[in-house]
Amino acid sequence: MSPLAPSSGSVTAVIGAQWGDEGKGKLIDLLAEDYDVVARACGGANAGHTIVVGGKKHVFRLLPSGCLHTHAEIILGAGMVIHLPTLLEEIALLRDAGIDIVPRLRISCEAHILFEFHKEIDGVLEERRSKTGTDIGTTRRGIGPAYMDKAARMGIRMERLGHDISEELRKRAHDLQTCYGITLNAKRELKQLHEAAAILKDCVTDTIDLLHEHMQAGKRILIEGAQATLLDIDHGTYPYVTSSSTTIAGALQGLGIPPKVLGDVIGVAKAYCTRVGAGDFLTEVQGETAERLRERGGEYGSVTKRPRRCGWLHIPDLRRSAMINGFACWNITKLDVLDTETVIPVGTEEKNGKAVMKEFVGWKTATVGITAFDQLPKQAQELILFIAKETGIPVRYIGTGQGREEMIVRS
Ligand code: GDP
Ligand code: IMO
Ligand code: MG
Repeated sequence: MSPLAPSSGSVTAVIGAQWGDEGKGKLIDLLAEDYDVVARACGGANAGHTIVVGGKKHVFRLLPSGCLHTHAEIILGAGMVIHLPTLLEEIALLRDAGIDIVPRLRISCEAHILFEFHKEIDGVLEERRSKTGTDIGTTRRGIGPAYMDKAARMGIRMERLGHDISEELRKRAHDLQTCYGITLNAKRELKQLHEAAAILKDCVTDTIDLLHEHMQAGKRILIEGAQATLLDIDHGTYPYVTSSSTTIAGALQGLGIPPKVLGDVIGVAKAYCTRVGAGDFLTEVQGETAERLRERGGEYGSVTKRPRRCGWLHIPDLRRSAMINGFACWNITKLDVLDTETVIPVGTEEKNGKAVMKEFVGWKTATVGITAFDQLPKQAQELILFIAKETGIPVRYIGTGQGREEMIVRS
């Protein structure tokens, strides 16, 4: 039980405040021990949430990062776009780790199925955009095209799993050919569905009813945000964003949970900043400094293995994310990555399209594994207190390493 254990009936959410990969998965894994239900609401296998437990690394794509806690019910919400072979792969990996997730996995019948052809469309659209230098740098996991189909009301939902959808697919074939030059491989799609149905058919259910029963029974629900606020389709750095609503509002919508039951929303931000794919990044750095942050922070995409762009923390971004999500507190992650820096710049405001930087003196000593705030070097404490003061939000969790235990929890 953590020092900040939730009371009965709590609904808590973890939401990224930057451009993703802040370390949401690690916090979810840490908190999940004290929750009865862990739910993903939106997005798909564009997410890559890495956790390290007992030195072993697990990467979650569609399943929430609370799966290692064997008591928790796992929900994939209606706002998600689900690539079934990826889900089966994840389930198999967990089985190899001795965890059979299927009996406690519930998938919304309203979630959309993401097909192979969505991934192919994603590739075609990126190629087209790259001709004018406007490619987004998507994960090419078919996310945009799956949400395009959903919005166009031509998507196929999880409720169809186990049914014959050859007619629906046949109707798509012409479009795919004429719009994107893609030949639909219906046989492969149907085979994948068949394989998934054999394992997952009983998991598909009305998760609205289920979640509301849980809430009435006083169960504690933990919501794992995917992607992050600056990648939100409405409030992010459009058009260099993902195709879903990644904020707390999107998470509630994606699960069908009413705002009035929501408890704390925890904002997660790195002590510096990264971004994968194209788009503005005011505090981005290049050269040796970027290399150092990338290597020390292991800043390579957990999905695409692409090197992440690296830079410094930007307080106005954190403030904006906090405004949108109403964060109760922060989890500032990866403080230990800054251990070797002589100077730590932080963007404090934006003037004429540029970030105004304030320099903090580096602490030049290892913070890895520290679990008490007062054991941090003074300069590191100052940085954390500065973030709290400038955003008006307390920093309750501080990441000091990849491992589950490498976290400072302040009450
Ligand atoms: P997510 O998408 O927000 O869950 O984050 P990712 O898993 O994509 O990326 C975060 C990476 O940082 C993962 O490799 C984590 O294991 C790692 N990580 C998380 N918190 C910390 C921390 O406090 N210190 C260090 N060094 N690594 C961390
Ligand atoms: P987690 O949950 C980092 C980025 C992509 C690209 C843009 C659009 O691990 O934090 P998409 O494939 O969604 O159409 O790509 O969004 N992106 C992420 N970046 N972390 C993520 O998820 C991301 N999900 C999408 O790199 O710039
Ligand atoms: Mg990630």
